[in-house]
Amino acid sequence: MKYFLVVLAVLAPLTAAASLGEQKPKPNAFVQSLRDLHRGPPVEPSKTRAKVEERWIDQWLDNFDEQNNATWKDRIFINERYFVDGSPIFIYLGGEWKIYPDSITSGLWKDIAKKHNGSLVYTEHRFFGESIPITPLSTENLQKYQSVEQALADVITVIETLKEEDKYKNSKVVVSGCSYSATMAAWIRKLYPDTIKGSWASSAPILAKVDFKDYMKVVGQAYATLGGQYCYDLIDNATAYYEDLFDNGKGKQAKKELNLCDEFDVDSEQDRWQIFSTIANIFAGIAQYQKPEKYDLPQYCSVLRSFSDDDSVALSKFINWKIHEHSGECISATYKGAVGYYEWSKENYEDSDLPWIFQTCSEFGWFQSSASSQQPFGSTFPATLYEDTCEGVFGSKYDSAGIHAKVRNTNKVFGGLDVNATNIYFVQGELDGWSKVGAGVAQGATIIPLASHCPDTASISASDSAELVASKKKLIKLVAEWLADE
Ligand SMILES: *[C@@H]1O[C@H](CO)[C@@H](O)[C@H](O)[C@H]1NC(C)=O
Ligand SMILES: *[C@@H]1O[C@H](CO)[C@@H](O)[C@H](O)[C@H]1NC(C)=O
Ligand SMILES: *[C@@H]1O[C@H](CO)[C@@H](O)[C@H](O)[C@H]1NC(C)=O
Ligand SMILES: *[C@@H]1O[C@H](CO)[C@@H](O)[C@H](O)[C@H]1NC(C)=O
Repeated sequence: MKYFLVVLAVLAPLTAAASLGEQKPKPNAFVQSLRDLHRGPPVEPSKTRAKVEERWIDQWLDNFDEQNNATWKDRIFINERYFVDGSPIFIYLGGEWKIYPDSITSGLWKDIAKKHNGSLVYTEHRFFGESIPITPLSTENLQKYQSVEQALADVITVIETLKEEDKYKNSKVVVSGCSYSATMAAWIRKLYPDTIKGSWASSAPILAKVDFKDYMKVVGQAYATLGGQYCYDLIDNATAYYEDLFDNGKGKQAKKELNLCDEFDVDSEQDRWQIFSTIANIFAGIAQYQKPEKYDLPQYCSVLRSFSDDDSVALSKFINWKIHEHSGECISATYKGAVGYYEWSKENYEDSDLPWIFQTCSEFGWFQSSASSQQPFGSTFPATLYEDTCEGVFGSKYDSAGIHAKVRNTNKVFGGLDVNATNIYFVQGELDGWSKVGAGVAQGATIIPLASHCPDTASISASDSAELVASKKKLIKLVAEWLADE
């Protein structure tokens, strides 16, 4: 009897540890590649030692249900280093990422704020970083409480809370954002024009769209234009090579040559979608924040070429390097792995991108598919890959028809490309895939040649192109006008 007890006592913690280990699956390569596409914009290293304060703002769980009095704490960062009482508030909106204080201590927005004796505020979007209104991240909770409208109303609450302080009582408010947070910047000006004097929207996607096939087309253009035609052709040829292997019953060979993990099912269409979209996402991730003046793309292309004279070998080595830095570890990219990971994150919140995946399923789409023939990433990852993931993770309301209806509704509410609001400055990078669902020249946007995503967030510098400097100067002038306007 005694003996038994001892054994049990030893076993119990071991079992707990083992199951704990199992509970935390690593995001597979597909999940990771998508996450990299939605990471926050790179932050300029700060040269000034500004004191940034972290504050927690009381928010309504549901901004639109008077019956629901539940609240939660939303995080903001505030930099009052340049602030003189009554001067404007410069908000930088957080998007689908965790916020960091450095984003409001450097860059163009800081420069402009300083000029106006402004206070800089960085807001964390609900369900990201440390601003979690409710757990678990069940479909039910996300459906009720996660949406861009809720997030915009949260920003208004932040402003109202600041304005309870005398020094902010008469402060005017301007906002800025990059990527999805630029979308928010545009839409908050549309919805709350009395509170928000003007918006700077850097690379804002504003047209919701299910099958976002133009994205990869622009990524391909970026490789051809900046990397060189050889680089585009290499990716194109290597992808075709692997697609052919799968199509001709040689999936096992492709699996081996790409170093895919055992669980990859060569006969599963959904697994094939995963690996080809992962490869495309990795190239897209490099292109998305490339800086033409830093020659990033040409450099990545020479690394790609240097791995082998054989295109398919070069591509495989490149992808394995990007994912695992040549550790030899296999690439895990299965449909079950992705859905399983998202399922797991409903109960285990830890900087998960589930709330963003949810917003794509429930509001925006923007599924970066292989449906364009004018790109080098093959034709193996249709938007269906993402639609299936939505339905698999969030249930039948998020099937293809459901997603299409929700996306149509978003465009109805916000007007798609026709935002119909004043005092918004749209900037796009010519080689940014996101620009294809953003404001164009017809909507008054400024297009920066050769540039990528959010190309104008840094201070004016000697390495900026003439067009980039002109755009930054235009913004400086516009902000002064917005703030001068009564
Ligand atoms: C919410 O608060 C209001 C005002 O304090 C109160 O009148 C109302 O009864 C509360 N509702 C619920 C559901 O608690
Ligand atoms: C900023 O504050 C300083 C000191 O109070 C003042 O001299 C200056 O005019 C202010 N600038 C603006 C743009 O308000
Ligand atoms: C295309 O790729 C295959 C497999 O890597 C290679 O054998 C072939 O030479 C390549 N073709 C061209 C035109 O580069
Ligand atoms: C655009 O906005 C104006 C002013 O808010 C409004 O009167 C008009 O109906 C809007 N047009 C469209 C097409 O929504």
